[in-house]
Amino acid sequence: MNNHVLLTEKKDAIMLITINRPEKLNALNSEVLDALDAIIENLIQDKTIKGAIITGSGEKAFVAGADISGFLKGDRNNGAQFAGRDQQLFSKIEQSPKPIIAAVNGFALGGGCELAMCCHFRLASENAKFGQPEINLGIIPGYGGTQRLTRLIGKGRAMELMMTGENIDAQEALRIGLVNHVCKQEELVATAEAKMKIITSKSSIALAQVIEAINAADGDPIAGMNTEAICFGKSFASEDMVEGVTAFLEKRKANFK
Ligand code: COA
Repeated sequence: MNNHVLLTEKKDAIMLITINRPEKLNALNSEVLDALDAIIENLIQDKTIKGAIITGSGEKAFVAGADISGFLKGDRNNGAQFAGRDQQLFSKIEQSPKPIIAAVNGFALGGGCELAMCCHFRLASENAKFGQPEINLGIIPGYGGTQRLTRLIGKGRAMELMMTGENIDAQEALRIGLVNHVCKQEELVATAEAKMKIITSKSSIALAQVIEAINAADGDPIAGMNTEAICFGKSFASEDMVEGVTAFLEKRKANFK
């Protein structure tokens, strides 16, 4: 399936999924999210596919976040539902019985960092940058970032990243365990494919059990996700969100009251 905002390529039994909006740094709009949902469903059902790699188009960005330009268009009071719906897609990726790895080829910010984190593990190119800059828009992560980042790098570091909105580079992401390997950009997809070849040569049944059992180490994640959606909804309904998003679109610094 090739929707223009999402490209797929099947090599042997491995699906390469490329988010393809390079002019908008691969920001996630509803078209991308719907296409990704359909592809993940297909991946889970299709017996000829054993695993997938998710990457971004171009050399600059994996995904620079949810598409901010849509934030002021819908009902600001629907933030919790909007987060809850998209959380389901990210949880579907996390719970996929087939391995899915992220090949992070540049900015992985906001929803991009969250997309990378719901994959089973992450490889990054040397120019990759990670962060949860939602605080700069007057909002918080809503695709599971408050939960997954905390589990991956610990509470203190997650607090710092989400409170400051600062980015970290690939080496720092490696040091704190957010990514497993860093490689040259031109070798990133090939490195991910080589890793995936090793993985998909194993028993599919055993792989599905590894994923299910390791995910069980998260305990019951649903309560945390619901709390995140409610908190996202409160920040999304605020006047600070209007100021933060307007400032981004006008390419100026936000002036929060
Ligand atoms: N949503 C919508 N559009 C986005 C976007 C996003 N999350 N991130 C980048 N873009 C768009 C920019 O608006 C710009 O579009 P334009 O050329 O029509 O003006 C284009 O992508 C290129 O981005 P630009 O900001 O010019 O690139 P840069 O190199 O100066 O900065 C970033 C790169 C990633 C630092 C910057 O784009 C950014 O801060 N993006 C938002 C990150 C974010 O807050 N994500 C969380 C969202 S909840």
